[in-house]
Amino acid sequence: MKVSMEQSLIVRNIGELVTYNSTSESMQVLHNVEMLVSDGYIQEIGKDLYSPEFRVVDAGNVLITSGFVDPHTHPVFYGTRELEYEMRIMGKSYMEIAAAGGGIRSSVRSLRSADYNILKMKVRQRLDDFLQFGTTTIEAKSGYGLSPESELMSLQLLKDLADEHPLDIVRTFLGAHEYPDEYRDNPEGYIDLIIQQMLPKVAREKLADFCDVFCEEGVFSVRETRMVLEAAKFLGLGIRLHTEEFKPIGGVQLAAKLGAISADHLTAITEEGIEALIEGNIIPILLPATTFFLGSDHYAPGRKMWDKGLPVAIATDFNPGSSMTQSMPLVISIACLKLKLTPLEAIQAATYNAARSLVLEDRVGSLEKGKQADFVLWKFEKYQGIPYFLGYPSVQSVWKNGVLVWGSD
Ligand code: NIG
Ligand code: FE
Repeated sequence: MKVSMEQSLIVRNIGELVTYNSTSESMQVLHNVEMLVSDGYIQEIGKDLYSPEFRVVDAGNVLITSGFVDPHTHPVFYGTRELEYEMRIMGKSYMEIAAAGGGIRSSVRSLRSADYNILKMKVRQRLDDFLQFGTTTIEAKSGYGLSPESELMSLQLLKDLADEHPLDIVRTFLGAHEYPDEYRDNPEGYIDLIIQQMLPKVAREKLADFCDVFCEEGVFSVRETRMVLEAAKFLGLGIRLHTEEFKPIGGVQLAAKLGAISADHLTAITEEGIEALIEGNIIPILLPATTFFLGSDHYAPGRKMWDKGLPVAIATDFNPGSSMTQSMPLVISIACLKLKLTPLEAIQAATYNAARSLVLEDRVGSLEKGKQADFVLWKFEKYQGIPYFLGYPSVQSVWKNGVLVWGSD
């Protein structure tokens, strides 16, 4: 990839270094340490590492954390949907708007009629914007094309942009995000199209590592979801699900049966659902900014899941319908206030646990020897500042593979 590596640099004068520690399997808050970076990787974290041949980055006594890993985003869309936002404020529900032809299907119509170069420019701008919020790795889904051409185009566009952008991008095929207009009366036909045409091409051309389905009442049933995910699994793709967002229809139980890596949303999950997550070794990815954005008070039971030992991850769910934000600091704030995670737990959920949900924890998600030097210098000293400075532009600089990619040093 993409960012040219520099020789050794040392980050000195760190106020507080906060990271997950894989040996103690817990978060650590370190003071009076320096971080040595070589060829894009963390060489050492410790005291008195300085030597004159290193380039010095003076942190000015601020907080340093790992770059965020945002494990659930939908950045490949064209038009925005602010009129739906207003309709919701005036009392319509997300599902009512979707049933009336708005929602995901309106984004599909918009993407299909898009000029490719303008679309690419918009998505590139969004990738830049992730960096500004301290995010250095994302999972990104297709799902606004819903035809073989436009789904493959969406994934290929992400692949092309990843080659020229510092962000690490994990791609997920979400052809089963909704039924497109032309298949409203022929759901079986659309499932066939996904299984016979889209999935084999996605797998053959290595356009995605994962397959996701929106498994929800009124969208893809558990039976339909199963058909798609079994086909994806057969082709070697990993499995993730949007499920139990509005009604607990048994998506988590299916996730457990199929060996999904994550189940996402889970605002309506039941006790049995939580047990299925535990038994299935599934990472719950919670999306509290979505609940907030939809004006709901019904948040996923994050505290309960954490206390049961589940490796809760959090994500923006960045998309034009239900979560128009790319800010992981904002997600951390809402996770503290509404999911009742502590600031340190929420940071773990946004870094190490999120990396685990993408099977990237050996490379990213923590500041440890041998990991990629993906880090953020903040404008304050203490980690509690991340949720506390609500909606504030808190990031001072962002470094990817040891190279400054946003802000100034
Ligand atoms: O994760 N829930 C389904 N998909 C997205 C919403 C997509 C949209 O409304 O455009 C989500 O919230
Ligand atoms: Fe989503």
